[in-house]
Amino acid sequence: MTSTLSHVLLLGGTFDAHVLSLQLQAAGIAATYSYAGATLNRRTSALPTRVGGFGGVEGLMRYLQEHRITHVIDATHPFAAQMSRHAIEACGALDIPLIAMERPVWQARPGDRWTHATDMSAAAALLPATARRVFLAIGRKQLAAFSQLAKRYRFILRVIDPQQTPLLADEHELIIARGPFALEDELALLQKHLVDCIVSKNAGGKDTYAKIEAARELQIPVIMVDRPSLPERALCETPEQAMEWLRTGIIAHAT
Ligand SMILES: NC(=O)c1ccc[n+]([C@@H]2O[C@H](COP(=O)([O-])OP(=O)(O)OC[C@H]3O[C@@H](n4cnc5c(N)ncnc54)[C@H](OP(=O)(O)O)[C@@H]3O)[C@@H](O)[C@H]2O)c1
Repeated sequence: MTSTLSHVLLLGGTFDAHVLSLQLQAAGIAATYSYAGATLNRRTSALPTRVGGFGGVEGLMRYLQEHRITHVIDATHPFAAQMSRHAIEACGALDIPLIAMERPVWQARPGDRWTHATDMSAAAALLPATARRVFLAIGRKQLAAFSQLAKRYRFILRVIDPQQTPLLADEHELIIARGPFALEDELALLQKHLVDCIVSKNAGGKDTYAKIEAARELQIPVIMVDRPSLPERALCETPEQAMEWLRTGIIAHAT
């Protein structure tokens, strides 16, 4: 990579993006932190921030040009596939170096009772008939896939922001919390709510892994939704690797 580093666009939405924003700020690298604006209760950042969509690929291209962005780091959640696709397309068209920072996927371990689902509709179709109380650890956006099942199961939902309106038409239990989550708390939550099945996105990383460990310990089945597939792009896993890429253009993978 030959581009001179002068202004980074950091596409955020994850805890690792927050960590990277602190590292960029500490290193004195000019950067703008971009949020979708989906969460009201945002972490504060020392970097200049912008909030809200760019207006598709064209809007993003306009933004990159107007702000003379030289490097883009896509640190969005692995399930934020639309933003990632737009970044690939816009950076490709403008020849702006792009790297995505993504934690490795979780792998099933001995004792895990996982069933893989390709997307949220498949996950809904895979709920065991014997389950009664299902922990939907999937955020808000894709709950619609379960709305037809809300009479058959009792859903326990966990979201970051308090809700003004119910998230599903039928009754459900709502937990307002933001990770990272500890194993003992997840064990307590699953036991308190008598959870007998969990639906989880394969987010990877440590912050939200405790529910998977707790499920293993309590022998609770997990419907694991696989990540959406994306076109090939440069990838790193940690904020340190992203910083190294900015400095050298090289992705130094951990050995
Ligand atoms: N999906 C999840 O499971 C999940 C979990 C935790 C956090 N998040 C975070 O929540 C945000 C929204 O997620 P999503 O699943 O709705 O994403 P998405 O479907 O990929 O994105 C929808 C639209 O939101 C805008 N957008 C997304 N991320 C943005 C960012 N960092 N800065 C500016 N605009 C952004 C873009 O609008 P325009 O097309 O108008 O540019 C994008 O096309 C993401 O930033 C993601 O990192 C998502």
